[in-house]
Order: sequence, then C-alpha cells, then structure tokens
Amino acid sequence: MPQFGHSMLKHWMLDPEVLYLNHGTVGAPPRRVLQKQQEIRDEIERQPSRYLLRDFSNFAGVPYAKQTKMRDAASAIASFVGAKGSDIVFVDNATTGINAVLRSLHFKEGDEILISDHAYGAIANAASFAARESKARLVTTKFPYPRYDPEAIIDAYTSAITSKTRLAIVDHISVESALLLPLQEIEKRCRKRGVPVLADGAHAPGAIKLDLPSLGVDWYSANLHKWAYSPRSCGFLWATPERQKELHPPVISWGLDKGFTHEFDWVGTRDPSPFLAAPEGIAFMQDLGVEAVRAYNHKLAWDAAQLLSESWGTEMPAGQEMIGVMATVPLPESLGKSKEDAQILRDKLLFEDKIEIQLHSWQNRLWVRISAQIYNDMSDMERLRDAVEART
Ligand SMILES: Cc1ncc(COP(=O)(O)O)c(C=O)c1O
Repeated sequence: MPQFGHSMLKHWMLDPEVLYLNHGTVGAPPRRVLQKQQEIRDEIERQPSRYLLRDFSNFAGVPYAKQTKMRDAASAIASFVGAKGSDIVFVDNATTGINAVLRSLHFKEGDEILISDHAYGAIANAASFAARESKARLVTTKFPYPRYDPEAIIDAYTSAITSKTRLAIVDHISVESALLLPLQEIEKRCRKRGVPVLADGAHAPGAIKLDLPSLGVDWYSANLHKWAYSPRSCGFLWATPERQKELHPPVISWGLDKGFTHEFDWVGTRDPSPFLAAPEGIAFMQDLGVEAVRAYNHKLAWDAAQLLSESWGTEMPAGQEMIGVMATVPLPESLGKSKEDAQILRDKLLFEDKIEIQLHSWQNRLWVRISAQIYNDMSDMERLRDAVEART
C-alpha cells in the first residue's frame, strides 16, 4: 500500500505555501490526469473536425467508428459506479445534470417538489425555478437538529411527502454538513408513495463506493471533478432506462429525439477533454488502491473531527456512520455566528494563516468543513486546530 500523506503532494500542482483542506469544493486534479487531458487536447488540435465530429461524437448521425470516444469514456466511468455505459451521459457538472432532470419533467400548478434544508443552494434555486415556472410548490423538509441521525432524516423526508409530491431531490452527501444520507432508505419510502427520486451525488464518486442501480433512484447526478480526480469540469447524469426517453439536456442541439446518449453527447461545440480524461482519474485511484484511498480519507476525516471537536470543546452533530471523506465540525462560539463572521474568518485563515478551508454559518454558529485527501495528514489538522485556537 502506498504511503499516504504529504509525500502524495508531488502528484498535485497545489501551492506548497497553502495548506489545502478544501478538496471537496472544486476538486483538484492530479498532475497525471492533467497531462492526459493535455495529450487529448493536442490530439484534437491535429485534426479538430475529424476528432470532434467523427471520433469523439456521433455528430453526423451516421456512425463512423464502432463506438465514439465519448461512449468509451462513459463506459469506463460506468464500470466504476456499477452502471451500464448506455445509462450514463457526461454533463459539465452536477448542477447541469439536475437542471436537465428538472427541466425535462412537466410540473403542474399545485404539484410539489421536495428538497431538504441541507440541499446545495444552487440546486435549491434550480428546484425553486422549476416550481415557479409551473406554479408548483417547493417544499423544504428540515432535518432535526442538533443531532443528526439516519432514522430522523428518513422520517423528515417521509413526513413531508403528500399526494401532490411529484419529485424528491435527495443528497447522497450533503454540502455544508457533509452528511452521508441514507439515500437508499429514503428512496424506498418515496417509492412506496409513488414519488420519483433525483439523487444529488455531487460529492459521492470517488468518496464512497457506488453501485447506482442498487440505490433504486430514478436519476443520479454527480461530479467526477471533486473526488474522482477528473479534470474540471466533469460530471455525469445516470438515469434508469425508463426515464431516458423523457430526458433532455438543458441545451438542446442536434441530438433532439435521437435518444438519450445522442442528445447529451453533443450539446454544441465544446472542449471534451475533461470527459475523455476522466477515466485517467479513475485509473490513478485504482493504481493507488480505491479502497485504500477511501479508507485513508475516511479515517482522516473522522480522526480530525474528533481532534478538533475535543480541542475546541464543541460537539460533532453526527456519528461516524454519517461521515464520508469530509467532516463538518462546530467552531468555538467566541468566533462569531453570522454569515459575515464566517466569510471574514475563512478569508483570515486563507490570507493570514495560509489555510484553505470551507467555513460557514448554520443554526446561529460557525462550522468548518474539513476535506480529507490522501495528500493531507493529522499534522494538517493540528495546524488548523492551532490557527483557530489562536483566534479565539
Ligand atoms: C451537494 C452538492 N450538489 C451540487 C453541487 C454543485 O456542484 P457543481 O458546482 O460542480 O455543479 C455541489 C457543489 O459543491 C454540492 O455540494
């Protein structure tokens, strides 16, 4: 097993002056993946039209190659998440995948779209927009606080379902609270009530083991550029075969009504290199050992949560079973509580202490979200602890 920790930094381009504890926010692709992406770009530029219109996609509608490069890449990603290549399309990011689903469904006046109070803001906006356009209603279920546990979260969703619920959007891993949600169980309750589920898996691929079909959900939108080491930007949308016919990309192009993969594989001329280099991110992780990477990151996140909450005298709101490779820890109360306090402290940590970390205000207090990646170790967490303590 490779030795994880600071020796892994040689695989990244990260600024050695800054302690990076924020891998989850926009990802950080390893050098090897960026090199592969550059090779792909170089290859494109030798014969741009041929590459984009014949090799990469089936733009012309008449297959030139047996399988396009986009489909090859989709198959590689599919096998990483337990799915079939034909059920997966690339999208620029998780937001785009979710918008595709929301804009393909036809809500009516009075219909309800269910989300939670832990949903990512942009996704809540997209759902709110879809509701507004059709005079449907956005219903936001609240997770019981201050202690998060899977049963209470399942109940929060179940109790918010009504005869008018047409869609439930459920995070697999929530953004700020970084909670691993009981998606499969929530889906079961939704299915019992005839409510389709759109999963927001923005943080899941690479962070936790995935077997998409077994989750039971109708759609799964995810990022590869966060935890699966792909170049930015790269996401995918998975849909059950029954849902694919009604699904369209938010940008309509040549593939209209020619089938799911056809519609999404070409949404106008763009740079396909992030998608085509995504399998290299998976290969990098496989070379390191997928389980070993996940186990290291999970343990580091949990150990950091213990260290920080004990040192700061605060209490973790969730147990280890709800933690993936990120952990959100309450900060000492003396550091403030407002959004503004959060922003000021986040910037001070970056610009004065050279620590990049996600920090936010929630429930009238400040929280810090640690991302644990194989280039981090416990000494990074101690550095964060000390920097925070020096500001109390
Ligand atoms: C839960 C969740 N959903 C969606 C997104 C959106 O990701 P992107 O900006 O890559 O579309 C994020 C980003 O952090 C997220 O945490």
